[in-house]
Amino acid sequence: MPTLNVKTLDGEIKSIESDEGAVLMEALRDAFLVEATCGGAASCGTCHIYFENSELAGDQTEDEGYMLESLGDFVEIKDGSRLSCQVKTQANHDGALIEIAPEA
Ligand code: FES
Repeated sequence: MPTLNVKTLDGEIKSIESDEGAVLMEALRDAFLVEATCGGAASCGTCHIYFENSELAGDQTEDEGYMLESLGDFVEIKDGSRLSCQVKTQANHDGALIEIAPEA
């Protein structure tokens, strides 16, 4: 099971495990690291994360792109930005560093 290192808003690093193919947001939410208030509909932005290595971030969905565009008025959008509810955990995420984005 991939283990990811998560930099919290406090600057702490925590490790979470997420099954391959599982929605990454669910592991982050279960660890109380994101709120995910819309439940994964790409419409709240509270699950926004940054992949330190943007090559691991994968492609944004169309709805996610619109959401990130509007979030960009309030928080920094980086190459590694993703809404974690739109990310399926992959084997190559093992050991990846992700950072919780500030709330908009
Ligand atoms: S949970 Fe709301 S945008 Fe991801």
